[in-house]
Formats: sequence, structure tokens, C-alpha cells
Amino acid sequence: MERRRPFPRPNRRRIITVANQKGGVGKTTTTVNLAAALAMHGIRVLVVDLDPQGNASTALGVDHRSGTPSIYEVLVGDRPLDEIVVQSGEAEGLFCAPATIDLAGAEIELVSLVARETRLRRAIEGMRNEVDYVLIDCPPSLGLLTVNALVAARELLIPIQCEYYALEGLGQLLRNVELVQAHLNQELRLSTILLTMYDSRTRLADQVVHEVKEHFGDRVLNTTIPRNVRLAEAPSYGQSALTYDPASRGSLSYLAAARELAERGADRGPRGGGLAGGAPPVGDARSAADPASRADPGPGVGAGAPAAAAPNAAGATSGHSPAGHPGAAGFVAHGPTERHAAGAPYGPADHRGGPADGYGPADGYEAADGYGAPNGARR
Ligand SMILES: Nc1ncnc2c1ncn2[C@@H]1O[C@H](COP(=O)(O)OP(=O)(O)OP(=O)(O)O)[C@@H](O)[C@H]1O
Ligand SMILES: [Mg+2]
Repeated sequence: MERRRPFPRPNRRRIITVANQKGGVGKTTTTVNLAAALAMHGIRVLVVDLDPQGNASTALGVDHRSGTPSIYEVLVGDRPLDEIVVQSGEAEGLFCAPATIDLAGAEIELVSLVARETRLRRAIEGMRNEVDYVLIDCPPSLGLLTVNALVAARELLIPIQCEYYALEGLGQLLRNVELVQAHLNQELRLSTILLTMYDSRTRLADQVVHEVKEHFGDRVLNTTIPRNVRLAEAPSYGQSALTYDPASRGSLSYLAAARELAERGADRGPRGGGLAGGAPPVGDARSAADPASRADPGPGVGAGAPAAAAPNAAGATSGHSPAGHPGAAGFVAHGPTERHAAGAPYGPADHRGGPADGYGPADGYEAADGYGAPNGARR
């Protein structure tokens, strides 16, 4: 059956940061539901909740009350990731590094720490739990937590809400990505854009879809996520939509998006470097209206940023938190031993220093900034 057909496993671990400093665009919903969909199809996935709001932990049914071993201790206390990762009840092979409210202080505490931007990367490199995907859910800010996520990842996935001002602020995010590429993580690629909360009743939504495809070409997944109330309800039951209501339009669309993500990643070379180019897999039909069929790699996120320090901690968070705590009894932490990590054997930085292939020219996305009031922007 189509829905049960396993997804292809990547040749090497994919580490994908889900970021957009705009609040409430669907970062967490995307992270959680893509992760659940992948895990339900035979892929081992770790979700790293990097938002003090802990929404991803909530949606995965994972305890994140203050005091729970969490990503905070990994980032600030050098605790090995394996010690705080728990299994989610959502699917076999789905794991979560929970975030507690303690993480709110990390933006400040990290500032004075050594290697403050590379702490998450080192933690992931040192992880023993073998997962195929790491999905990192970022807070709505461009502070040090998001910088840690960008430094840890090879890929950036930006969810864009099909709404007014959808692209506002994106230029700033992409400039930060450039800085990270230039100074801290050459391998980072903007690989994927996912359009979220599409409402077919509005002309504006179609306009946003068109604009985004024009700017980002093949990086935009063919699947667009509709506005669907099941997606919003699921977290209050401590569930992803995929278990809460598998037949809902929201679930089916995330399932399709996850399959696309997996299939796009699977046929890349072992270095995974081709993602920046964004060429769709062979045979991937695109709509005639899609300007993405151009040959150039589109608005790249390239190197060549001015020499400057990485963005510093400045993150305010916005509150879109759905319901509170599901009690998450029965989840067992991995690596229960108290191996404390001072001088933890961080793995070699084996994936660093790859050729900076596939960087597109750093033009094009400036235009995405300040995307204003398109004509006909009525609901
Ligand atoms: N496709 C959708 N249809 C309906 N509601 C949605 C959809 N996607 C997300 N939501 C709801 O919109 C709100 C914001 O979504 P979400 O929390 O995923 O965004 P976010 O970018 O992670 O927010 P934040 O910036 O606060 O972390 C949530 O209440 C969520 O349940
Ligand atoms: Mg969120």
C-alpha cells in the first residue's frame, strides 16, 4: 500500500534545521509531523527541540517540565546528547531531545561559554544513537540557539506561511545563514522550502506560493501544507497529527511532504552536496506554472558574507504555545549512566571542509526581503 511503502534511507545522516525567525509559521508543526511521517516509514529520526517553549516536546508526548534532563544541559552543561534523548511514543524509531523552560536562559548563558556556536554540532557528532535524520526545531529568533542549529546542520528547511508578509524578514535569516556558511559551517545548504497553512479560498495564498516558487525554485517542495484544524489540535493531545488523525488532510500532506523530502535526499551523492542546486529528481513532474524549471540554481545562499562575528544572542520568543503538558510517563532515557561529559569524546569533524560546491550566487533573495502588500491581497 502506497502509504506504507518505506521511505528511502539517506546515504548518510541528514541533519536538517527548521528555522524561520517569524513566529507561528509552522516550524514546530512541520518538524514534528515530518519526523513522525519519516519514522512511520522505517526511518530513525531524532527531533532536537531547541525552543524553550518546548512545543515539539509537547507534540511528541515527551515530558519537558523544568528539571527534566534536556537539551539545555547538553548545550550549557556539556552533557552527552544520548543521556537526555528519550523515545517518543508516536512511532518506533522516533526520538526527542526535549527542551525545558531552562533553555530560555541559554541564549544569555551561552554567550560567555567557549565554542558557544558549535555546542550542538559537537553534541550531535558525539551521539551514539544511530539515526538517519536529525530535525532541529528552532525558536522564533536569530539568537545563539538558532546559530547553534545552523552550525550543526547540513540543510536548512524554511517553512513559509502562505500569508501576508510571508517573506518579510527572510532576507535577514538568509544573511545570517551566509555568515554561518562563511565562518562556521561551509556545508550548510538551504535545501528545502515548505509552504504551510495554505488556504485555497484566498487569492493571497496563491500569490505567496507563486512568489516563493519564483524566488526559491526547485527548493520548494511540491507539496503544500493546507490550513487544517487537526494539525492545530494534535499537540494538545501530546500527539503528532499523523497519529491523532492519520486520514486528515493535514496528516496526508505532511506524509507527502516527508516522502518528497526523503526521496529528494536519497538520490544525492554520498556527500549530499547537490541539494543546494535544487534540481528535482528525474521524473519529478513540476507544474507548468512553476518558474522553478529554470536551469540556474536560483537564489543561492552563498558564501561571501562580510567578515563579521556570528549573530549574537538577541532572541525574543513569541508565544504560540498550544496546550500544556501531557504527562509522558514511561519514556526511557537512553544511556542512563551518569557519564559526565567534561572532555567527552567528540567525534572528529568528519563532515567539515567539503567543497563549497553548489553555492548559488548570493543574489535574488534580497528581493524576498520586504515582500510587501501584493495586489489583490484580500481574504
Ligand atoms: N497547517 C496548519 N493548519 C492549521 N493550524 C496550523 C497549521 N500549522 C500550524 N498550525 C498551528 O499554528 C500555530 C503555529 O504553528 P507552529 O507552532 O508550528 O509554528 P512555529 O513556527 O513553530 O511557532 P513559534 O515561532 O512560536 O515556534 C500552532 O497553534 C499550530 O498548531
Ligand atoms: Mg515552534
